[in-house]
Amino acid sequence: LKGYKLPPGGKVVRKLDKLYEGKAKIVYTTDQPGLLIQYFKDSATAFNGKKKGTIEGKGAANVRISAYLFEILEKAGIKTHYHRLLTEREMLIDRLEMIPLEAIVRNIAAGSLSERLGYEEGRRLKKPIVEFYYKRDDLGDPLLACQHVLELGLVDGVQFQQLRTLSLQVNDVLQPLFAERGLELVDFKLEFGFRDSEIILGDEISPDTCRLWDKKTGERLDKDRFRRDLRRVEEAYQEVLKRLASS
Ligand code: TMP
Ligand code: ASP
Repeated sequence: LKGYKLPPGGKVVRKLDKLYEGKAKIVYTTDQPGLLIQYFKDSATAFNGKKKGTIEGKGAANVRISAYLFEILEKAGIKTHYHRLLTEREMLIDRLEMIPLEAIVRNIAAGSLSERLGYEEGRRLKKPIVEFYYKRDDLGDPLLACQHVLELGLVDGVQFQQLRTLSLQVNDVLQPLFAERGLELVDFKLEFGFRDSEIILGDEISPDTCRLWDKKTGERLDKDRFRRDLRRVEEAYQEVLKRLASS
């Protein structure tokens, strides 16, 4: 067993069993009720797991990028599952009852939105769009309309609106933050869960789950480099970390 010091008072949290292993992270239980450890891997997948690979240093970069962004969001009054960093690849988080939805916020057309609407990549949207996808690998994570979400019973109507509002609030915090670092926040994915009956932001926010374009050069500094077989994938993650850390 590995113990980590928890400030203040030096309380130690111990990692227990693997609870869940996903494509990019592993979640472990701890000896503290309601607290989990999220471990960030270097492995990467795309296109519903059809493309697989390793991005050296990704886990260590993403855990720090996520921690930094969660701290900023908390300061802005948005509740997240994040407690603190524990090691180079691990963060302590609240246990949430996850909602099997991916909330995507888009500021600029790219990826599947470009295909759906026939917009060239890079076209700015009139206002941010929020979409919900059903987290079901066997169905290929389909796009859902509000009524589909309600039919599935994943949340009620009030909670659906809360998910939309929270997603847009996150955008309102993150878009200017990245802009100050010379990065365009093109789009990003969020996952939410329940802590008691309250909706809390979970999962991660990193170049795996955001599209980030250099404002000057238009260079992609995110997982699209892996998805689209571009060079310098590792460097992109390090560059985002560097820009966030240097202020
Ligand atoms: P998309 O254009 O492929 O729909 O992706 C939109 C955004 O969501 C992009 O920033 C990448 C992110 N994303 C994930 O984090 N996980 C996923 O499984 C998918 C499909 C997209
Ligand atoms: N990681 C996801 C998958 O493998 C998709 C993606 O991020 O492109 O399905």
